[in-house]
Amino acid sequence: MPACRCFQAVLVLLAVAVTMLLAILLSLDGWLPTPLLGVREEGPPVTNVMFLKTHKTASSTVLNVLFRFAETHNLSVALPAGASFHLGYPWLFLARYVEGAGGAGRGARFNVMCNHLRFHLPEVQKVMPNDTFYFSIVRDPVAQLESSFAYYRAAVPAFWAAGSLEAFLEAPRTFYQPGLTLQNVHARNNMWFDLGFDPDAPADDEGYVRARLAEVARRFQLVLIAEHFDESMVLLRRLLRWQLDDVVAFRLNARSPHTVARLSPAARERARGWSALDWRLYQHFNRSFWARARAELGPGRLRADVERLRARRRELGARCLQEGEPPGPTRAPDPLLRPYQSGGAHILGYSLRRDLDPTTLRLCERLAMPELQYTARLYARQFPHKPPKDINFLDE
Ligand SMILES: *[C@@H]1O[C@H](CO)[C@@H](O)[C@H](O)[C@H]1NC(C)=O
Ligand SMILES: *[C@@H]1O[C@H](CO)[C@@H](O)[C@H](O)[C@H]1NC(C)=O
Ligand SMILES: *[C@@H]1O[C@H](CO)[C@@H](O)[C@H](O)[C@H]1NC(C)=O
Repeated sequence: MPACRCFQAVLVLLAVAVTMLLAILLSLDGWLPTPLLGVREEGPPVTNVMFLKTHKTASSTVLNVLFRFAETHNLSVALPAGASFHLGYPWLFLARYVEGAGGAGRGARFNVMCNHLRFHLPEVQKVMPNDTFYFSIVRDPVAQLESSFAYYRAAVPAFWAAGSLEAFLEAPRTFYQPGLTLQNVHARNNMWFDLGFDPDAPADDEGYVRARLAEVARRFQLVLIAEHFDESMVLLRRLLRWQLDDVVAFRLNARSPHTVARLSPAARERARGWSALDWRLYQHFNRSFWARARAELGPGRLRADVERLRARRRELGARCLQEGEPPGPTRAPDPLLRPYQSGGAHILGYSLRRDLDPTTLRLCERLAMPELQYTARLYARQFPHKPPKDINFLDE
């Protein structure tokens, strides 16, 4: 019937027109009133937060941000039970790995969760409220693998016999034994594994890869990019409605530059092929990160916010740290600030100025405190009647 076909044509034209209009509006920086894009700038800060702490991705710095926020706002943290410093990694997460969530504590909910774990949503939901904001961080898998090799060399069977990462990448299958997945998690698709997926799944199974990526995108409201850390913190701050100082951080658990290996272009290419699932993950969330940043902030506001963040970090660095900004000697003299050392990685620590008044000292200590000490400190605060976590091994 002609009338009917005409009507359909009008509908199609309308749909095309609306799509084009939306595309134009979205490309105009700052044109759309931001509430239309889904975030309320007004309102109380988000206080229920779950951070999936992936390995060797600048995630220790994010953990410091979350621990400080929890401490200053008196929020509860889903801390590792007993003497442990992680939430059951590399086993799939279980609620009972959290102190106070097993036995008589069943049904307890926490505000913040960010220690290492292998993601397993149904169990995470047993300890986190249902309005929790989920986020994570990814890094270029080539750099991630390079960092893993330096840090976990002694712990990972697949790395033992390889003289160098280059040698490993030339014949990874001769070093990487299938069936040793849990011991070798740091040797292949480590981020994919942390998300709860199979690191040895075929990366060319397009349906599988897309389904997992969609699953991550559905659950995690934001995935940060380690290479764009400051942009990441600015966007995170906006979505959580936090203060600037809440997300300003000193870089933690960083290696001394002389222990960072330079890989040949061929080795880089091999690393992307070897950790192809992580490469897909990284490309996907790199794209969505920039789309999100554009939609939420636009390039002008993003640049300005990043500049403010950096200025504040420089200011706090000058106020807190000996000789300004850069990390001090490998062995930070204060045991409270001495980072855990692993393999040949030479993890840098900070030395605070000696002339700080008590209030500034507390602020600076929090900013410079490594993961293990901070975990122990929050544990002692939250569970004063339990035996404290032992961090004496850091003195050796
Ligand atoms: C902090 O929270 C705990 C319970 O989580 C509560 O008992 C305590 O009174 C709070 N302290 C302050 C200063 O709000
Ligand atoms: C979320 O949890 C609260 C209390 O724990 C409950 O009242 C509410 O119905 C839950 N909402 C959804 C959507 O499950
Ligand atoms: C990440 O996104 C940026 C901005 O779109 C782009 O310039 C860069 O090439 C992307 N990186 C990768 C590895 O895809």
